Amino acid sequence: MVMMDRVAFRLILFGAFLISATSAPVEKKQNVDIYSFYINSTVSSRYATTIITSRVANKLSEPQEIQFEVKIPKNAFISKFRMIIEGKTYDGVVKKKEEAQQQYNKAVSRGESAGLIKSVGRTLEDFKTSVTVAANSKVTFELTYEELLKRRLGKYELLINAQPMQPVADFKIDVHIQENPGISFLEVKGDLNTGDLASAVKTTRADKDAWVTFYPTRDQQTKCTNCAENGLNGDLIITYDVNRGNPKGEVQISNGYFVHYFAPSDVPRIPKNVVFIIDRSGSMHGRKIRQTRSALLTILNDLDEDDHFGLITFDAEIDFWKRELLQATKANRENAESFVKRIQDRGATNINDAVLAGVDMINRNPRKGTASILILLTDGDPTAGETNIEKIMANVKEAIGSKFPLYCLGFGYDVNFDFLTKMSLENNAVARRIYEDSDADIQLQGFYDEVAVPLLTDIQLSYAGGKHLTKSSFGLYFNGSEIVVSGQITDNSVETFTTEVIAVSKGNNVMYQDTVMMKDASDVKPENEDFMQRLWAYLTVKQLLERQVLLKGKEQEDEKEEALQLSLKYQFVTPLTSMVVTKPQEGEVDVADKPKEGGESPRYPASQPRLVPYGRSGTPGFSHHHYITTSRQPGLHALPGLPGPPGPPDASINYARHPGGSHRAFLQEASVVPKDTFSFLGFDQHDVVAHSDLLLSSAVILPTHMPRRTLPKATSVAGLVPVSRFLLPAVGQSKPLCFDVPVPNKLKLLEDSASEFSMNGESTHRHNGFRRIALHYKSNHDLVIDKRSIKYNDGQNNVEFLWDQELTQHNAEGVSLILQSNELDITMGNIRIVVLLHKINGQVFLWPAVRQQPKDVVLAGILGKSDASYDEIQGSQPPSLKINNQEVKADLEDVKDYRLLSAPVIRCWLVSFQAVMKGDVSDFTVTKM
Ligand SMILES: *[C@@H]1O[C@H](CO)[C@@H](O)[C@H](O)[C@H]1NC(C)=O
Ligand SMILES: *[C@@H]1O[C@H](CO)[C@@H](O)[C@H](O)[C@H]1NC(C)=O
Repeated sequence: MVMMDRVAFRLILFGAFLISATSAPVEKKQNVDIYSFYINSTVSSRYATTIITSRVANKLSEPQEIQFEVKIPKNAFISKFRMIIEGKTYDGVVKKKEEAQQQYNKAVSRGESAGLIKSVGRTLEDFKTSVTVAANSKVTFELTYEELLKRRLGKYELLINAQPMQPVADFKIDVHIQENPGISFLEVKGDLNTGDLASAVKTTRADKDAWVTFYPTRDQQTKCTNCAENGLNGDLIITYDVNRGNPKGEVQISNGYFVHYFAPSDVPRIPKNVVFIIDRSGSMHGRKIRQTRSALLTILNDLDEDDHFGLITFDAEIDFWKRELLQATKANRENAESFVKRIQDRGATNINDAVLAGVDMINRNPRKGTASILILLTDGDPTAGETNIEKIMANVKEAIGSKFPLYCLGFGYDVNFDFLTKMSLENNAVARRIYEDSDADIQLQGFYDEVAVPLLTDIQLSYAGGKHLTKSSFGLYFNGSEIVVSGQITDNSVETFTTEVIAVSKGNNVMYQDTVMMKDASDVKPENEDFMQRLWAYLTVKQLLERQVLLKGKEQEDEKEEALQLSLKYQFVTPLTSMVVTKPQEGEVDVADKPKEGGESPRYPASQPRLVPYGRSGTPGFSHHHYITTSRQPGLHALPGLPGPPGPPDASINYARHPGGSHRAFLQEASVVPKDTFSFLGFDQHDVVAHSDLLLSSAVILPTHMPRRTLPKATSVAGLVPVSRFLLPAVGQSKPLCFDVPVPNKLKLLEDSASEFSMNGESTHRHNGFRRIALHYKSNHDLVIDKRSIKYNDGQNNVEFLWDQELTQHNAEGVSLILQSNELDITMGNIRIVVLLHKINGQVFLWPAVRQQPKDVVLAGILGKSDASYDEIQGSQPPSLKINNQEVKADLEDVKDYRLLSAPVIRCWLVSFQAVMKGDVSDFTVTKM
């Protein structure tokens, strides 16, 4: 199948050529072709911005409607949506909901189409729109959403759903996480990281950054579990945590905004008094009551010996396990277990009396230095005793008197979740929905785990000079969670910024005070400068909206207005705003709304006025083909985490030396080094500046004005032999290995004899990377890439592409080439490689990155191994590692990772070639490219 971008294609043909004649279509005929689908997620300090870009072609010779549908996390706000059709850009505009609605109603009254966001599952909501595209034309959809990742049970989770609705030749997910305190662990899970697809997941880690790429081949997209002719359907879930060296928390400042992340773990747990109030009304019948029993049994088992607990079950009547709170001794827990096993469903729902009984139980058993927690589990509305919701809330609020939190768990969709949310918020806690599903018991336990270890109570955070703070006082802080406060700093002249936290730990007052230098906390990369402001806005809007249920009258109106103004300013689609997308067809608009959180249900429609479902009036002569036919539920099952296979080894030009040696010594010896020598050796300016402190006595003119913090620490220098430095990720280690190969050389990079694939590279003579890379596949496909162009021959015809093009694709049997500016994406059979054309400080070179290779086999060539394993030998001098049971010398080095266009600096353990490759360089050279 051949697809070319007619606008951007600069094709040079050799000989008698007919690309279309060479194509051997294997896919089934489709009228719509998604020729690229990218998901790009950037996380800066927990704030995630994700951009989904889908480019679609109408292959019919008549106009047709093309639909774009994706699932985004419920917690996120959409902040941008655009369509590009025939060179024209149509941007969505966020407006006040009522205004948008008016515009929308006008369109609807004329019978025109409407896009909408609706909730689909536990964690995702659906965004859907469509546009009519002219014959043989294209449309690009681009959707951006933002969210602050929340720490739960010791980790953050970034969820990316991929369901492009058909196999896509150019499908990729790129994730970049930047965390200043450093990333302590990172794991890739989800059903896209299972089975055969797992080999398409590559992870690269540096101290403060991590990159995850997912580049499955088209073929793989049809063969995975859950995939079929409709292509991928699943989630990629990236979980991670950051280092917490400073118990006072982490402060970041940028452009007048700050954020403080506070999550100390150096405090002892506080014994708790916990009362479970369990609904056993008739509606809990069957699986729900079984799951509740099972969850309670596990929870009882997890109670700590110094905890006290109570159990109350209720329908119209209230039953107690014991009238008093009792200590969680083994005997008491066992006794409670038999009570739990006998819980049966019956009768009505008397929430009022049950909660009041729980409050009373805690009030009658005060214990100093403990944390009291009330947990209500219910699946329905109050139907017995006091049934007036307002009265119940008033009773409960008065009884609790802000002394401890009441968490409400709403089981299923029959509950009045608004009521539970409000009652929780009024009592310093939150409500959580337990979804009726096979894992409801695990959801219940998961909730309990989050509140199982209280560390601090009565937490107050304050910031001298901080204004417009988000919520800054909290009743309880639990181990594994995190307190986040953001605000503005109005006085820019101050040099330091002070944070102060006062709290109670096991009955004692504690204080955390920290002073950070403004400049230290402002180490934010320029491209991320406004993320902090957006983070502040995001958190402020979320909290203002949450508080709405608690407020009345003018205060409520004021806060609502504030949330609205912020939503408009930052173009967030929130419950108060809608995004209006004006389409090329005159007067046609789509409106995207934020669905009401928790109000949705597959069985019960959301209570908000629903937009008329998608469907448009017929325009004569328009075909209404819908290529999207499925509405499969996203796979949201928590899968056991499979460690993602790390990325392939790679190289960067450096200068050879023996591990364990010192480049400082070398530089001191070479006290006079002519500038030309450096450029001959391939030092780029970065390298020279990095060593400026060592080179003052030399003749080198140093561009000292260059910023230092972006520089790699060192580039090793020893003999005068230039080398390529390759990176090799290591299983379970945050630092990869690296090793050097002398240049120039013709190297065997990757060879898979099973699929008749090979890739060789000819390194440059004088500087980084490769000047030429040649790939061969089967007997007839040859691809030769140099710094000017890309030449492809399929046995009959030649095609040549020039670098720096707009998106251009060429597909033939088993081969796909996708070129976009300085990135060439190559798929040959089940191997996917990206060749990057780097232009760094006047040097131009090629770099190959293996994104996908057959699983569980080590291929031949320098990039054939996708990972290594090693152990650090503690205290060894010089430092050494244990690799394959051998002790080898190693040095910590910084190297640029040219597998990524940004070429970030990665710290690695430099070891000898032989130590990792189990052979000599000569075993990896070729004579013929
Ligand atoms: C992803 O998005 C970021 C921020 O917009 C951008 O800098 C980066 O180049 C993008 N990466 C890819 C692979 O498109
Ligand atoms: C808090 O959790 C961490 C792991 O997430 C654990 O190492 C630590 O012991 C816990 N603290 C307490 C007091 O349980």
